[in-house]
Formats: sequence, C-alpha cells, structure tokens
Amino acid sequence: MRLGILGSGLMGGKLGTIFARAGHEVVFSYARGKEKLKRLAREAGGKARAGTPGEAATQSDVLLLAVHWSRFADVLEQAGDLKRKILLSCSLPMNTDDTGLVVAHTSSGAEELARMVPKARVVSAFNTVPSEVLFGVYEARRKAARPGLVYCGDDERAKHTAAELIRDAGFDPVDAGPLQSARYTEPFALLVARLAYEGKGGPELAYRFVRLGK
Ligand SMILES: NC(=O)c1ccc[n+]([C@@H]2O[C@H](COP(=O)([O-])OP(=O)(O)OC[C@H]3O[C@@H](n4cnc5c(N)ncnc54)[C@H](OP(=O)(O)O)[C@@H]3O)[C@@H](O)[C@H]2O)c1
Repeated sequence: MRLGILGSGLMGGKLGTIFARAGHEVVFSYARGKEKLKRLAREAGGKARAGTPGEAATQSDVLLLAVHWSRFADVLEQAGDLKRKILLSCSLPMNTDDTGLVVAHTSSGAEELARMVPKARVVSAFNTVPSEVLFGVYEARRKAARPGLVYCGDDERAKHTAAELIRDAGFDPVDAGPLQSARYTEPFALLVARLAYEGKGGPELAYRFVRLGK
C-alpha cells in the first residue's frame, strides 16, 4: 500500500516505521523540522521517504492521522483534497493539557473528523494502545497470541484495509462496528492510557479480548 503519515511524532513515527518494515511505501510528513522526517525515513528503510502533508496525500491511498486535536485543522488544510482517501485516525479529541476528551458521549473525535473531511473514508484505529507497545507487538507478530486492537468505521472497504494494516502491525483486528462506536473506543483509550502511565505495569500495556461462551 501507499501510506502517508500526517503527524510523525510518537504514534506516526512508530507506525510509519512499522508499515515501511512490513513492505508498504510510506511518506512521513508533518513534524516541526524536515530533518526529523528525513531521519525517520532513513531509519525506517524500505520504501520510506519524507514529504509535505500535500505530497503525502497525493502520493498515498491511505493516510494515518496522528496529531493532537488542536492541530487537526492545520494538518488537514496542508494535506488538501482527501476525496476517496482512507483516513485512518489514531488521534483522540484531547484538551490542550491532555487531561480529558473535549468531545464525548454524544459524538466522538472520529465522527467530528468525518464531518471535517466528508469525502474521506474515516476509520478510527490504533488509539487504544500506548505508542510504547508498538515495536514490541510488531516484533512478536509471529506468536500465536496476538494482542487485540479495536477499530471502527462506516466504509466496509476502508475497514478491510485498516484490518490488514492492523494485522501487519502484529495485532488481531477487533471490529467495533460503525464510526459511532468511537464514542466508546475513545474513552476506552483513556482507560488504557491511565493503566499504562499510572498503573503498575508501565506503558508497555496491550489488551486482548476473549469471547466467553460458544
Ligand atoms: N502517544 C501515544 O501513546 C498515543 C496513544 C493513543 C493515541 N494517541 C493520539 O495520537 C495523536 C498523536 O499523538 P502523539 O503522542 O504521536 O503526538 P506527538 O508525539 O506530539 O506527535 C505529533 C506530531 O505533530 C507534529 N506537530 C505538532 N505541532 C506541529 C506544528 N505546528 N507544525 C508541524 N508539525 C507539528 C509533531 O512534530 P514534532 O515531531 O516536531 O514534535 C509530531 O510529529 C494524538 O491525538 C494522541 O491523542 C497517542
């Protein structure tokens, strides 16, 4: 796949590196310095390169949105036309000091995003794991017991693509249904963050769903 990373920080930098190592063509974009994007591309290897958000958007079929809620408008404006693009968002609608969600209960960051870019096919994924877990999960991808990862969206083909990328990253995709389910997965992400950063186990925390019964 051709993947554009919009926001090359903790999440975007790591996921872009993993996708490049899994064989995808990756364009890292949106950081405060071009050198950082070039370094990420160099270290990721494979078919990774650095570019602008506009280049990432025009040269890719799937875009990973990995910026703070306060940067959405800016990065989307720089990305330009996202018509028919799959927009995979790991971003959460956090307030400026990252202490709580600014959208919840009756809507979600993912639904607000879909309203901002109505022509894109939005899938919410990867926001329910701390970035610290990503490389370890990718390295253990051949083990039988993979951690789960919930994702949701309204476009079935876009979700299919998202599930493939989730598998490539070493997780078992768990379909949480329509984009509206982000109203539940986004607060769940905050629970995971609380357990990861304030709990005893530290940030290397992943989860697994077990369906009991027949
Ligand atoms: N980190 C996690 O474990 C985690 C887990 C689940 C969900 N999330 C969500 O994922 C999203 C991204 O989180 P993150 O931790 O990856 O954030 P981050 O490390 O701060 O990355 C954000 C990226 O945006 C870039 N950026 C910020 N302001 C910019 C500006 N004015 N111009 C150009 N680039 C700018 C940053 O550049 P620099 O690289 O130069 O700083 C960085 O590359 C957030 O919505 C967060 O809620 C994060």
